[in-house]
Amino acid sequence: MKGVEDVHDDRLIVALDVHTMEDAKSLVDELGESVSYYKVGMELFYSVGAPVVSYLKEKGKKVFLDLKLHDIPNTVAGGLCSLMGLGADILNVHAGGGYAMMKKSAEALHAAAEEQGMECPKLIAITVLTSISPEEWRRMGHTSEIGDQVLRFAGLAKEAGLDGVVASPQEAAAIREACGADFLIVTPGIRPAGASMDDQNRIATPAAALRNGATHLVVGRPIRAAEHPREAAEKMIKEMEDA
Ligand code: C5P
Repeated sequence: MKGVEDVHDDRLIVALDVHTMEDAKSLVDELGESVSYYKVGMELFYSVGAPVVSYLKEKGKKVFLDLKLHDIPNTVAGGLCSLMGLGADILNVHAGGGYAMMKKSAEALHAAAEEQGMECPKLIAITVLTSISPEEWRRMGHTSEIGDQVLRFAGLAKEAGLDGVVASPQEAAAIREACGADFLIVTPGIRPAGASMDDQNRIATPAAALRNGATHLVVGRPIRAAEHPREAAEKMIKEMEDA
């Protein structure tokens, strides 16, 4: 039997896709001990900034700072080193920024962490957004399959020294096979059976994503927009245990 203090599961990352500190705090309070890991994305970070990361760390939560950096190598590496001081556990870049950008980013982050005597945050790469459907993919001019591109990006990220990738749960099994046991696979696009897809396309249930090799599940609307968010989180954790 789990005690009250260990109902959470570090594999569940709840997306704090809200606009204000007040809304962030009220969701974190409502979810209480059931959730230990939060994702702060551009909506919240651009409006609230660094204090939201400090707030979560003071509450003992882990933080995935999902700012999806995408620019030339020097700029992304510098940006990541600036972000590192906030104390987030995971930072990320777009693999579409290229191998040189990922490699320089990983090297700069490790060097800065060592220099400052800090633990280096994990650095992961976005492969292909889970909202992109095969139709949209073709419309963007790609002739390859989405899955092949995701695998290519995951391989490049690993070779560049990154710790893992963000990918759809449908691609997790192939990435696990190609990139080995230690590679982080963070999967958004998680929907409990029968739930709305919203704007996501390449989705899976929590248990299926974990069975496919995902290490972390990013869940936003199925918890945040639920009538009872804490119940929805606990139900999801239960589904995860059954994987
Ligand atoms: O509400 P929902 O569960 O769809 O939220 C998913 C979260 O994961 C959002 O914050 C979205 O920005 C993020 N995300 C994603 N697909 C990616 C990377 C991140 O949906 N490839």
